[in-house]
Amino acid sequence: MITAGTTFGSDVDATDALVADPLALMVQWLPAHDSELRPLAALSTIGLDGIPSLRHVLISDRDAAGLTFHTDEASAKVAEIAANPVAAMAVAWPELGRQLVVRGIVERVTPAEAARVYAQRSRYLQLLAWVNTRENAQLEASARQHLWAEFDAAHPTLDPPARWTGFRLRPLTLTFWRGDPIGQSTRQHYTLADGRWSGQILAG
Ligand SMILES: Cc1cc2nc3c(=O)[nH]c(=O)nc-3n(C[C@H](O)[C@H](O)[C@H](O)COP(=O)(O)O)c2cc1C
Repeated sequence: MITAGTTFGSDVDATDALVADPLALMVQWLPAHDSELRPLAALSTIGLDGIPSLRHVLISDRDAAGLTFHTDEASAKVAEIAANPVAAMAVAWPELGRQLVVRGIVERVTPAEAARVYAQRSRYLQLLAWVNTRENAQLEASARQHLWAEFDAAHPTLDPPARWTGFRLRPLTLTFWRGDPIGQSTRQHYTLADGRWSGQILAG
């Protein structure tokens, strides 16, 4: 289990052998939604111009069904997912000697699920979800800050804006990279086919 202060390679041996249930290993590697170690993931989608599109997002939560993230309906990633409902995510913990790469199918979460996550977001992120529009981004910094302060004062509590939405990445491949401070790094690469996971060991 990852805790603050864990050092590089300190749990290298734990998953040396292939596991029967890589989804359980994925859940074990990723902190729960309420952890202070909430991971930031690089999220890749297919750009509408065919070039990979990449940005970082917070992983809202994880379970055996996949990884959820939340975003603005007006963002490029939503249009890209609508056109090609696939994505890849990568999370690295260099200090632990770990990297997890997930590729798969993306589906929208229910509005109720998205609202539950919104309620768990910090006040700052709740405000951001309302105020973070392209139109507001054109204002000067002082005007943006004024607008923010006014909106904050006028809305002591907030429900999610209609633009708030969430997605689940359902893994089709999972790759667990393990560093070893005194040896070769290695990967466990798992593929889902016909409802069954098969794994192989690769060079790091
Ligand atoms: C630390 C950090 C956390 C972020 N978390 C999110 C997030 O959870 N959801 C999100 O939509 N954007 C998040 N962003 C902003 C995205 O990286 C990106 O700029 C934005 O979503 C627009 O992306 P798009 O135009 O490619 O869709 C975060 C950025 C940073 C630097």
